[in-house]
Amino acid sequence: MRKEPYSARGKKGYEMLICHPECGLSGGMPYCDNAHVVQGFKTEPIIYTFTKTGTVQFCGCGQSKTFPICDGTHETLPDE
Ligand code: FES
Repeated sequence: MRKEPYSARGKKGYEMLICHPECGLSGGMPYCDNAHVVQGFKTEPIIYTFTKTGTVQFCGCGQSKTFPICDGTHETLPDE
């Protein structure tokens, strides 16, 4: 996890599999790379569908209340 979002572009209707915040094992964050299967985790990725063509900011900290979209919560987190 990191204290900043990931920017991603997509076309309307395109689906992306986002690594579940309770997993966090993907080697290609924020996207699921099936590491949860290899590690035996029971969490499934979150499917995000672009509602319009453009750029979105995916949460990188795992604390967003609108996960997988960043809601700015990372700005309130303490420095590590
Ligand atoms: S990165 Fe912004 S709320 Fe998580």
